[in-house]
Amino acid sequence: MSNESSQEPQGCFVPSPDVIANANIKSYEAMARWAQEDLPGFWAAQAEQFEWFRKWDTVLDESNAPFYQWFVGGKTNIVYNCLDRHVATWRRNKLALIWEGENGEVRTFSYHALNREVCKFANVLRSMGVKKGDRVTIYMGRVPELPIAMLACAKIGAVHSVVYGGFSVEALHGRLEDSESNVCITCDGSYMNGKIVELKRIVDEALKRAATVEHVIVFKRIGHDVPMEQGRDYWWHELMGLPVARANGGNRCETEIMDAEDPLFMLYTSGTTGKPKAILHTHGGYMVGTATTLKWVFDLKEDDRYWCAADPGWITGHSYIVYAPLLVGATSFMYEGAPTYPYPNRWWSMVEKYGINVLYCAPTALRGLMRFGEAWPNRHDLSSLRLLGSVGEPINPEAWRWYHRVIGKENCPIMDTWWQTETGMFMITPLPVVDLKPGSATRPFPGVEADVVDEHGDPVAAGDEGYLVLTKPWPAMLRTIYRDPDRYVTQYWSKYPGKYFTGDSARKDADGYFWIIGRVDDVIKVSGYRLGTAEIESALVSHHAVAEAAAIGLPHEIKGNAIHTYVILKAGNEPSDALIEELKAHVGHELGPIAKPEKITFVPQLPKTRSGKIMRRVLRARALGLPEGDITTLEE
Ligand code: WT7
Repeated sequence: MSNESSQEPQGCFVPSPDVIANANIKSYEAMARWAQEDLPGFWAAQAEQFEWFRKWDTVLDESNAPFYQWFVGGKTNIVYNCLDRHVATWRRNKLALIWEGENGEVRTFSYHALNREVCKFANVLRSMGVKKGDRVTIYMGRVPELPIAMLACAKIGAVHSVVYGGFSVEALHGRLEDSESNVCITCDGSYMNGKIVELKRIVDEALKRAATVEHVIVFKRIGHDVPMEQGRDYWWHELMGLPVARANGGNRCETEIMDAEDPLFMLYTSGTTGKPKAILHTHGGYMVGTATTLKWVFDLKEDDRYWCAADPGWITGHSYIVYAPLLVGATSFMYEGAPTYPYPNRWWSMVEKYGINVLYCAPTALRGLMRFGEAWPNRHDLSSLRLLGSVGEPINPEAWRWYHRVIGKENCPIMDTWWQTETGMFMITPLPVVDLKPGSATRPFPGVEADVVDEHGDPVAAGDEGYLVLTKPWPAMLRTIYRDPDRYVTQYWSKYPGKYFTGDSARKDADGYFWIIGRVDDVIKVSGYRLGTAEIESALVSHHAVAEAAAIGLPHEIKGNAIHTYVILKAGNEPSDALIEELKAHVGHELGPIAKPEKITFVPQLPKTRSGKIMRRVLRARALGLPEGDITTLEE
């Protein structure tokens, strides 16, 4: 896939009068103007729609920028607004969550039932001594207990750190240590593509070196034998059966009153160094930003069934599977397994079976399904679909058109949402009422201001490529990097003082539409997953045969980008196909299957600057047969 092709305007798709007539927000321009004229007033009006134990004194405090604060002085708890508030109304009987396992098992939770599980598990955590501010690591498969665990933490004021269940020992170990978690919640295993991922065994291995964890709670998903360490490991179902879980009948558990700016969760993401950074989000602003964007962009209605096909372990899942749908009182669908299991019609059969109205997924998944042909979706009645969403990487025109024609039957607008782990909420995105250009995320959400600038921070001319920056704070923005405020400032706010640097390049066309091109830092997007070159390189170098390694991303038809690596072997090791396989497996074991290099090339040398930095740009240019650009800093 070429990112370049998505830069060409492909003509507009104008929303039908029907869509406009029924939309929650009928005019993008009116909302954008309101926010431009009165940013605090605009966000305060959205915040008014939630329950606050105490209203804020100041909407936005910029005095200590870039450590912006939102709804200062306000007291709330996001879970109070996700659950407590709804179970006090008729919504107690509404379905909050419909879940289907890869093996076809179905579980449903009304708001009442979900609240009960969350209360019970929150009681369990409290009884273990978990309290406000403590960090809890969650490393689970895609089961309902994952959101239940997140919500239970937030309810008692603990800070959850979810580690994606596709990561492996080294990635988990680093995140357990950095977060200093006392409790780790996991599963005996998880199903993925008909296979079992041995989550508990990975936890055991990671814990050999992680000192702070005292308790491990294991949800039984598979039922196979796993070692349980006496005094450390507990079964979820046994704890939930204890009287302490059912305190107050199990339906009540005091929701901790939180400051709007108190941390809600941290989520590790890859950046320019080998050490992943923990992005910190808070209760108040995150709540207001995620709920407002979901309601406006996906235009959710009370009777909708909404499916975000991401993993709860990523920001997309945190914001748009767990928190925002519950905040707006929606019915969410969640699927455990692989899109093609057992056949490539799995997703479409579930759209039909559950009558999904809004589907949100990644271009890489669409490209993966496209190659099996139209017959698979065409076997199913997809007429319930009203709106489609895309996220994670630029959507190429071919995938856009297939999504629009074959899945949406030319009736569903596609919301191409650009955002990041750091932004917490959609930032550049259409609303269903705006004209669409395939491949463009259109314009910033009302209240968000973005620009494309050159090396000096000056705006570039319309149509020119430059760096994507955000020029105004927004409520769901990250507050810092956990335990590393300096890195927060240097990483995001130092390249262009006063402006947030996204790490992406983009163009803005004459209509003010943004066209995202891709990362300009050392981050590679593989199948929509974000990986750091340095993480992959250090995984390779941890193998005894490897002296040095460099990783780059090269275009890939389905994954968007694939990881290509260049390896210098230590003396005494000979290149061989067997060693290539061994190194791929090694990276898979250290980081997880998604980080496995597509290709490993043995080289005698790597292009470096005189100061010893690997010039990945030169490697990329050589691999693609492009000019090498400025190589004056290249060492002899
Ligand atoms: C990076 C952030 C935010 C949810 C999932 C990814 C890329 C994200 C789009 C889009 C083009 C996109 C950017 C961004 N990206 N959405 N609609 N069009 N690119 O979160 O893992 O933090 O990655 O994903 O490069 O910087 P993330």
